[in-house]
This record gives sequence, C-alpha cells and structure tokens, in this order.
Amino acid sequence: MSDFIWVEKYRPQKIEDCILPDSIKKTFRDFLTAGEIPNLLLSGPPGIGKTTVAKALCKELGADYYVINGSDEGRFLDTVRNNAKNFASTVSLASEASHKVIIIDEADNTTSDVQLSLERLLRSSPQTVDSSSLATIRTRLLLPYIHAAVLLTFLLTKRINQR
Ligand SMILES: Nc1ncnc2c1ncn2[C@@H]1O[C@H](COP(=O)(O)OP(=O)(O)O)[C@@H](O)[C@H]1O
Ligand SMILES: [Mg+2]
Repeated sequence: MSDFIWVEKYRPQKIEDCILPDSIKKTFRDFLTAGEIPNLLLSGPPGIGKTTVAKALCKELGADYYVINGSDEGRFLDTVRNNAKNFASTVSLASEASHKVIIIDEADNTTSDVQLSLERLLRSSPQTVDSSSLATIRTRLLLPYIHAAVLLTFLLTKRINQR
C-alpha cells in the first residue's frame, strides 16, 4: 500500500515531465494541441509510463476520466458494463470537461467478453467518450479491439557506447 502512495505522489502530472522518446512525446503534444485524444492503445514493458501518460493526457486536456483495472474489477463483465455505461452516460456537474475518457489499465488481463462489451459501448456512445487501453502484452487483446485504436508502443531504447 505505501508503494502505491509513493508511485502516485511522484507520478509526473504533465507530458512534458515524462521521459519519452522524442517521436512519441511529439505525438502526445500534437494530441494536446489538437485538444483531442483518439482511442489509444499504449503498449510496452511494466513501469515505462503507460498509466502516467494516460492520466497526464486526461489532466492536461481537462477530461473526465474513469479507470478500470483489467487485473481487478475489469475481469467482471457485469461490473465493467454497469460502471462504464454509467460513467459514459452521466453528465458531470462538478466539472465542465468536454471529454470523457475510459482508461482500461492492464487491459491484457481483461477477458474477451469484457473487451467486446467495451468496444460496443464506445461505438454507441456520444463522440465525447474515448478509450485509452494500457497493455503490457498486446497479443492477449482481441484484433478488432486493437484495430479500433491508435497503437503506440513504448520501447526501451538502450544506448550502447560503441567506442
Ligand atoms: N516515462 C516516464 N517518465 C517519467 N517517470 C516515469 C516514466 N515511466 C514511469 N515513470 C515513473 O514510474 C512510475 C510508474 O509508472 P507507470 O506509468 O505506472 O508505468 P506502467 O503503467 O507503464 O506500468 C510513475 O509513477 C513514474 O513516477
Ligand atoms: Mg500501468
């Protein structure tokens, strides 16, 4: 539990504060400039910044976001269906956010019926609802789910001093 608090406390809040390859950082900056985040699938090894980036994009855009954890409640179809549907259909009175984003963390641990249900929800929701899925292992995700999203793979680049 205390690890969790430290990770949250020191999680960068802005894309500028994330350490990322230039090309990926530019892509995120372009989303912010455009004021829109497309459906995104962020994949890469654990601890490389997927959750951080998803939250930072939402915060910087002033979007309302709802996180479903694929290793936890995200494995249960009814829970996901009810919670995601409620989130997508309610109007937030507290904020004037123009976007609603459903973040599916550890998406590779959700079941295929959960993935299909979320895909249907996104297709039938008002255009202001986007999804951002974060996966370590992409192959556990259904193909239609991957095709519906802009795929960004975070690679660990290792600098080798050849001299
Ligand atoms: N690219 C990054 N830039 C800056 N800090 C990072 C980055 N990636 C990870 N971190 C640090 O590591 C912690 C865990 O990262 P997280 O985004 O949860 O990883 P992932 O979701 O890819 O497993 C964050 O709170 C942050 O402090
Ligand atoms: Mg994560």
